[in-house]
Amino acid sequence: MRQKINLILSIIALVAIVTTSIGITLVYYNLFQNQVRADLKQNARLLVESEVFQNAYQKGYEHAPSLANLSPGNLRITWIDADGTVLFDNDTNVSGLANHLDRPEIRQAFDSGEGESTRRSDTMNMNTFYYALLLENGTVLRVSTQARTIFSVLFNALPVILVIVAVTLIACVLIGHLLTKQLMKPLEVMAEHLDDASEPAYKELEPFARKIRSQHENILAAAKSRQDFTANVSHELKTPITAISGYAELIENNMVAKEDEAHVARQIRHNADRLHSLVNDIIKLSELDHLDRGESFETIDLFEVAKECVNDMKTAADKKQVKLTCKGSSAGVIADRALIREMIDNLVQNGIRYNKEKGSCEVYVTIQNARPILTVKDTGIGIPQDQLDRVFERFYRVDKSRSRETGGTGLGLAIVKHIVELHSAEIAINSTLGEGTTVTVSFWATAR
Ligand SMILES: Nc1ncnc2c1ncn2[C@@H]1O[C@H](COP(=O)(O)OP(=O)(O)OP(=O)(O)O)[C@@H](O)[C@H]1O
Ligand SMILES: [Mg+2]
Repeated sequence: MRQKINLILSIIALVAIVTTSIGITLVYYNLFQNQVRADLKQNARLLVESEVFQNAYQKGYEHAPSLANLSPGNLRITWIDADGTVLFDNDTNVSGLANHLDRPEIRQAFDSGEGESTRRSDTMNMNTFYYALLLENGTVLRVSTQARTIFSVLFNALPVILVIVAVTLIACVLIGHLLTKQLMKPLEVMAEHLDDASEPAYKELEPFARKIRSQHENILAAAKSRQDFTANVSHELKTPITAISGYAELIENNMVAKEDEAHVARQIRHNADRLHSLVNDIIKLSELDHLDRGESFETIDLFEVAKECVNDMKTAADKKQVKLTCKGSSAGVIADRALIREMIDNLVQNGIRYNKEKGSCEVYVTIQNARPILTVKDTGIGIPQDQLDRVFERFYRVDKSRSRETGGTGLGLAIVKHIVELHSAEIAINSTLGEGTTVTVSFWATAR
């Protein structure tokens, strides 16, 4: 960034200096030319009025050589006869000079009384300015002087221009350095204090600061949730492993009585099953984290999948003396069949697991306002209102000991929520403590 600012400032300065130098030279040179022409005119008129010239004018051009004494500085004086013959020239011998009738300033003077022109001498890089004046006797007096061309002026000014360029470039680099330092400072301060909500130094940075802060918060939240998840997983894995290892130690040391062997084996199996379902749920969650709506999505009948699930869960429900039913009508949804099955399985499992003896669990599929709806309603123990929002969190269980007893890992509803989100559906949970719970999932009939 620093280099870029330096470069931009230097280019701007360079362009400004070059254009200003050329512009000033052009204006100055134009003024200078006008001044040279005005001076020539003035000199010509003064010359005509001078005594020396009047003398030569009245007595004849043979007296013109005395004019040479009058010639100030580099002024060249040429006197031309009416036929173009040069009568006098203070610079050159007239015998070597050609007829001057073809010179533009002379022609103009014969035509309109006065004439002027400028001719360039490439070899000397000089311009010659001419002014010619028609005199009363039909002859023409011409004065001329030499001045530098514009290129020569520019060339002479070049060292000064180069010094200005060098000084300005150094100034640009210094200013660029200070500017970037000043610009970067608030950004560095902001990066150091991402956590506090203080206003950024520039108003223009507000959207950027907001975005960075929200991303920063999301990253921290994601890191925290990952940390919590890892801690929970370790804790959940440790409990059954410790139990299995304890029972194994008892057997190893012959400390289990014959009549207790069946109980110990049951405990080991129970804890192994727990480990198994825990690992399965973790794998499922991690798969869902990376899953996108893909080719596995197809049009399925929600009612059919619900019926299948209820049939398979019948034995488990009977074991707990819970009446499990499935009612409703066909409802087409675009979904992943296996995931929908997993979702209904989890909801029905909860409906049975957290039910009372002789309670009921009803799965209902219907279409409301063109939206396929799945409802799982039980007459179970219910969930306290203040914990309703939390049951979708990973590893959250209302009654830890009861869930553990019944084999719950606290991941079922987290998986359900993931599946619901993947299908762009919505989930709602209603519950009355001691009376029962109703979970409703609303789908869309077409893909979203
Ligand atoms: N139908 C329900 N009735 C009463 N409580 C419920 C019901 N469904 C869920 N809960 C409560 O919400 C908690 C979280 O449920 P979730 O299904 O996520 O976990 P789990 O059933 O304990 O274990 P998992 O489903 O992973 O085997 C449960 O532990 C339970 O306390
Ligand atoms: Mg569950």
